[in-house]
Amino acid sequence: MTDSITIALSKGRILEETLPLLAEAGIELVDDVKKSRKLVFPTTDPNVRILIIRATDVPTYVQYGAADLGVTGKDVLMEHGGEGLYEPLDLNISRCRLMTAGKKGEQPPTGRIRVATKFVNLARRYYASQGRQADIIKLYGAMELAPILDLADEIVDIVDTGNTLKANGLEPRELIDYISSRLVVNRASMKMKHGQINPIIEKMAVAVERRRSASE
Ligand code: ATP
Ligand code: PRP
Repeated sequence: MTDSITIALSKGRILEETLPLLAEAGIELVDDVKKSRKLVFPTTDPNVRILIIRATDVPTYVQYGAADLGVTGKDVLMEHGGEGLYEPLDLNISRCRLMTAGKKGEQPPTGRIRVATKFVNLARRYYASQGRQADIIKLYGAMELAPILDLADEIVDIVDTGNTLKANGLEPRELIDYISSRLVVNRASMKMKHGQINPIIEKMAVAVERRRSASE
């Protein structure tokens, strides 16, 4: 019997960079997601459907088995904790860095520090690992504003070119980790549907490796 497979993706850069890799695994969207208000999409493989959800919801859908597979940033996985998930493949896409940042030319306080971020769990772990006392302030976006308005001494955020920090009078401080997007798999699905999931992982791995060697 052929089981149906559900893959969770998020709109934006991850979707755009994941679709060519999925195409190499024989899975292509039938509809134009940009023009559709649908959240569940059929693919050229009748046994595979794609969910388009918020990036931060991808690990949750996969953890509880509502989706068998998902693609999300390592930052999102670090924040989620990775419970109930296998992470078999680094897709080497949407690469960036997770950093602390603060006002240009300003030193961070030596004692307790106020940190604004949407990655509250990750930030709490990071400052604890550095032996620093931190008050973590949860924001949902535009973290760069927090030091400027003295809501926080520092932020924890994604940095790519550094242009967003620069445009807001901030500068990067410490590197927390290098980030890229990962394929995640529900633990039960990996066992129960391995006959269908393994070939998808293997074909995507070949596509990733081909790109990696082409860029060298
Ligand atoms: P949402 O819109 O649901 O809040 P989001 O804004 O985090 O989610 P994206 O901006 O598409 O969604 O980012 C998705 C992922 O891409 C991030 O989790 C991160 O791993 C990576 N990413 C974010 N910003 C950049 C960037 N400037 N360059 C490269 N990768 C990035
Ligand atoms: C991301 C991230 C940073 C920015 C970093 O935002 O949240 O703000 O990219 O990139 P840079 O170092 O090249 O400037 P994005 O552009 O995805 O918008 P968002 O805030 O809607 O996620």
